[in-house]
Amino acid sequence: MTKAKQACIRKPTVEDAQGIKRLVDDASTTGALLPRSLMEIYEHLRDFTVYADEDGVGGCCALHIDTADLAEIRSLVVSERLRGRDIGERLLLACLDEARALSISKAYALTRIPEFFERRHFVRIEKSELPHKVFKDCVRCTMFPGCDEIAVIRDLRETPDRDAAGEE
Ligand SMILES: CC(C)(COP(=O)(O)OP(=O)(O)OC[C@H]1O[C@@H](n2cnc3c(N)ncnc32)[C@H](O)[C@@H]1OP(=O)(O)O)[C@@H](O)C(=O)NCCC(=O)NCCS
Repeated sequence: MTKAKQACIRKPTVEDAQGIKRLVDDASTTGALLPRSLMEIYEHLRDFTVYADEDGVGGCCALHIDTADLAEIRSLVVSERLRGRDIGERLLLACLDEARALSISKAYALTRIPEFFERRHFVRIEKSELPHKVFKDCVRCTMFPGCDEIAVIRDLRETPDRDAAGEE
């Protein structure tokens, strides 16, 4: 009998790439995320953190480095069957910890759910405050140039996150 895999947040292996693609594809049908090809997912696999359980990849989030002091939180999605259990938050916090470990001082996201990020110490900014290079993927988006995403940013040196035990 094979042992059930324990649910955890971890860095992915190449075997998780198909599961990440399925999640991103599902979320892209609602316009929440940009679709990613399997090749792009392999290329950027080291950016990702995943939530995995016995059913495979149930959530993912990526940290994409733009400059020495700025990284983007992207491709944050949790499978519908698992939403509302703090998995999205834990994935986000894992990516923010990774940014801190890399000495990156600021993380931003382009999002239609700014409230989710604001409750986690991000603040809204004008998109024009971000460097031009961060918009290079936007030309592939069906919403371009009339995008309704909101930019949010967080200074990682300022505010603590709750730790694994849930304490601030
Ligand atoms: C956003 C998402 C990743 C949250 O995952 P999750 O595991 O349910 O998140 P958590 O359980 O940690 O937290 C749930 C929070 O998300 C909020 N949330 C979920 N969907 C939301 C939506 N459409 N609009 C606003 N807030 C939303 C809930 O209100 C809740 O907020 P709170 O904890 O601050 O009160 C998940 O809903 C999802 O995959 N959505 C589709 C993809 C997407 O929109 N990704 C964000 C791209 S930037």
